[in-house]
Amino acid sequence: MLVLGIESSCDETGVALYDLEAGLIAQQLHTQMAMHAEYGGVVPELASRDHIRRVVPLTEACLKEAGKTLADIDAVAYTQGPGLGGALLVGASFANALAYSLKKPVIEVHHLEGHLLSPLLAESRPEFPFLALLVSGGHTQIMAVRGIGDYEILGETLDDAAGEAFDKTAKLLGLDYPGGPRLSQLAESGDPDRFTLPRPMLHSDNLDMSFSGLKTAVLTLTRQVEASEGEIGEQARMDICRAFQDAIVDVLVHKCLKAMKKAGMKRIVVAGGVGANKQLRAGLNAAAAKYRFAVFYPPMALCTDNGAMIAFAGAMRLKFAHGAGGFSVKPRWDLA
Ligand code: KG4
Ligand code: ZN
Repeated sequence: MLVLGIESSCDETGVALYDLEAGLIAQQLHTQMAMHAEYGGVVPELASRDHIRRVVPLTEACLKEAGKTLADIDAVAYTQGPGLGGALLVGASFANALAYSLKKPVIEVHHLEGHLLSPLLAESRPEFPFLALLVSGGHTQIMAVRGIGDYEILGETLDDAAGEAFDKTAKLLGLDYPGGPRLSQLAESGDPDRFTLPRPMLHSDNLDMSFSGLKTAVLTLTRQVEASEGEIGEQARMDICRAFQDAIVDVLVHKCLKAMKKAGMKRIVVAGGVGANKQLRAGLNAAAAKYRFAVFYPPMALCTDNGAMIAFAGAMRLKFAHGAGGFSVKPRWDLA
């Protein structure tokens, strides 16, 4: 069974082919990052237009990479939501038109399910059940995953997502879009002992989180440094980045440990763009060694949006849990 997966929920056009026997056999990705950088963030209309330009050539390239033709495709999976309405519609229209012309089923995939299952595409993959830390630009959730389609939210952010906090704080510090990875890079050269920022909800008795106050704390800290030093120098900026990253990572690791205990899990997977963060990985790896649990990550290239995770989630839906199809998008859509 060969599944073509199409991702177009935000600023990446991703196309991939997943075969139920051979695994992931081809993937193509185009990121619009450079196009949006000029505007300091994703411009939805430009995103939609670019997806339209890219989706057909990327699909052709993907088929060529795999040595396959359209006739070999058994089903077409696409990201139905959540995401930008116009951007989603491009993938939805293309996937439905293609599936219709091939007389093959179409599979709607929840974008977060794609992220959630992406660690199963790594060489070292977890068995069910596992705890999942989903940390992207739009979501921050801790979930119990007991099987394909069996997801329970144990805790989530009450305001900004972790990636959103990274991006907004980066913007506030004058870093270019997309700020998250850049902030994280600067934090590596920051002094961990110079500044300390609050850890919101660290000791709350639930698994929820809150990150919007952190950027305000960074703003206040920035003003204090400016007042005493005249301007934010290069080292001070790196030290602030470090303090910010320490706070976020501390909260995420702490909440994951609490969730592991509460749900009685022995495995955790980390998914979503912030899962690429080195300090978060180091923090979770250290906790895993100390408390004897296993931690799994998607391959680095599959942490951020891509077609492979959609093709894979589609293939899993086809194998285990597929419902009725239909042409629609869901810009806002809860996974559980
Ligand atoms: O999963 P993703 O590609 O898109 C969404 O579905 O949101 O995640 C993108 C988010 C952005 O907020 C980006 O700044 C963040 O992931 N991100 C990072 C890193 N790489 C990507 N945040 C912190 N450290 C990183 N290394
Ligand atoms: Zn995503």
